[in-house]
Amino acid sequence: MVKIIKNIGQLLQVRDNKDALRGKEMSQLPLIENAYLVIKNGIISDFGLMNEIPEIEAETIDANGRIVMPVWTDSHTHLVFAASRAGEFVDKINGLTYEEIARRGGGILNSAKKMTEITEDKLYEKSATLLKEVIRYGTGAIEIKSGYGLSVEAELKMLRVIKRLKQNFSIPIKATFLGAHAVPEAYKNNKKVYIDLIINQMLPAIARENLADYIDVFCEKGYFTAEETGEILQAGIRYGLKPKVHINQFNSIGGIEIAVKYQAVSVDHLEVMTDDDFEILSHSKTIATALPACSFFIDIPYAPVKHMIDKNIAVSLATDFNPGSTPGFNMNFVVSLACIQQKLTPEQAINAATLNAAAALELSKEMGSISKGKKARLMMLKDFIKDYKEIPYYFATNPVEEIFF
Ligand code: NIG
Ligand code: FE
Repeated sequence: MVKIIKNIGQLLQVRDNKDALRGKEMSQLPLIENAYLVIKNGIISDFGLMNEIPEIEAETIDANGRIVMPVWTDSHTHLVFAASRAGEFVDKINGLTYEEIARRGGGILNSAKKMTEITEDKLYEKSATLLKEVIRYGTGAIEIKSGYGLSVEAELKMLRVIKRLKQNFSIPIKATFLGAHAVPEAYKNNKKVYIDLIINQMLPAIARENLADYIDVFCEKGYFTAEETGEILQAGIRYGLKPKVHINQFNSIGGIEIAVKYQAVSVDHLEVMTDDDFEILSHSKTIATALPACSFFIDIPYAPVKHMIDKNIAVSLATDFNPGSTPGFNMNFVVSLACIQQKLTPEQAINAATLNAAAALELSKEMGSISKGKKARLMMLKDFIKDYKEIPYYFATNPVEEIFF
């Protein structure tokens, strides 16, 4: 099957890079104006200027001056959940903080309770419905975490649902095991026993069914210490799961050093950073994933990504879509927030949400840029967006006209 897209106003992110961008590279967004692009069997096989368009037998799509670019990769989500937490949303409006809500039995434990009450089929239906909507907004590769189960049975239920999504959707989906998302009430005074359950029961069962690609821990005061994080990551690594870790959301407690030691693919959140944290990350391959929509929704500081880019750290952007801290999955809004609140330029933010985001899921060799031989995971934007700077400028819209996979 050959497709040719002609009259592309701006063909964005035209480069051969296969790894995450850093430093000054982040400021460049290479593009071709007035371009064509050929897709052969789902692979980008050719592109160039319209006045050099080849004459080939192909299904022709006329972009009519529209922008064509790589899809967004959302490398951090909790898309599988049983119920909304809109009640907590109202509590927040009335003055409670995210941490206060969690202490009152809301938060992650509230979602875990709902998770025990839902059947696997119903959970799949809910999640599939959401994922369809997420894709309509231009997300063409996604990571989904467990972590609202917090028991062997319920964690497996979540991960089996993610596996079914992988089987039934045509976009790349990566599964992350986040059994260490919170300490269940029953283990409140005996965290060690819960950690043993994660390591000795959950992980072997997950490995048997091949249910996860990555291991995650919420490394935070009141959740898991840096030392405990290290122990759990190590156990995951023994089962072939690479670390992707929730770190430095509210406090810096030494997690970055541990995550980098265990060669984490990414460390995510990073709203609170020390000089040491910047230093450690700048000498590592670990990608720093910022989640500005979480900062927006629960009203906490934004990750200092501008400084990270200055320090040569590879920065990516994701939504953190989840029912508690971030009930939003619009990557376009994330890109806008990164520009408005974190002062990234449109070039930096788009790089962070395409190529670097793909790298945060180890997919940048096959997608994330317009490059011959990469998969044609692309989107064509709506007619009112004439220049790439207008992608973050028209904030919180859905700029996507059509998606190609
Ligand atoms: O990334 N911080 C930890 N986990 C999620 C929130 C989970 C929840 O509140 O349900 C996050 O923000
Ligand atoms: Fe998260």
